[in-house]
Amino acid sequence: MFAATAIRADSKPAFYAELAEQARGLLHGERDRTANAANFAALVYHALPDLNWAGFYFHDGAELVVGPFQGQPACVRIALGKGVCGTAAVTRQTQLVRDVNQFAGHIACDSASRSEIVVPLFDGDRLIGVWDVDSPTAARFDDDDRAGMEALARIFLDSLRGSDRHGG
Ligand code: SME
Repeated sequence: MFAATAIRADSKPAFYAELAEQARGLLHGERDRTANAANFAALVYHALPDLNWAGFYFHDGAELVVGPFQGQPACVRIALGKGVCGTAAVTRQTQLVRDVNQFAGHIACDSASRSEIVVPLFDGDRLIGVWDVDSPTAARFDDDDRAGMEALARIFLDSLRGSDRHGG
């Protein structure tokens, strides 16, 4: 049984490098999307301080539908192009929102959320969904978090193909 260990790192990049190793270990050898999404969300949610939501929305062919997550119950469906999640999906760009009140069209699932980062998940040109992390603190996320979350999201995507850079 995998056991997450507390991460002691003296910088955010070092923290994310350690968390990435844990994520690779956690997902290694399993390709089931629901299983890996659930464990991935739990790992990240409990490893990072100051979060109130961490989870997935998956593309069902028409819109985004909530997947495995940690936090309060969330909005179920988000149209492509709507909210921070739908914007990440159509622009294919990570959305780093320092103040959700300044993001036109932000969808407030949990009124506690103040800042948010959403990474789009693609398999080549195919939209898989988005990885969304929220914080109750404004400006919780910076460019180190963006890079760290993008690296983590790649590990999740690699796990679905049964490949990882450490030999899957
Ligand atoms: N705030 C998101 C909606 C999802 S929740 O934060 C869990 C958005 O604007 O797309």
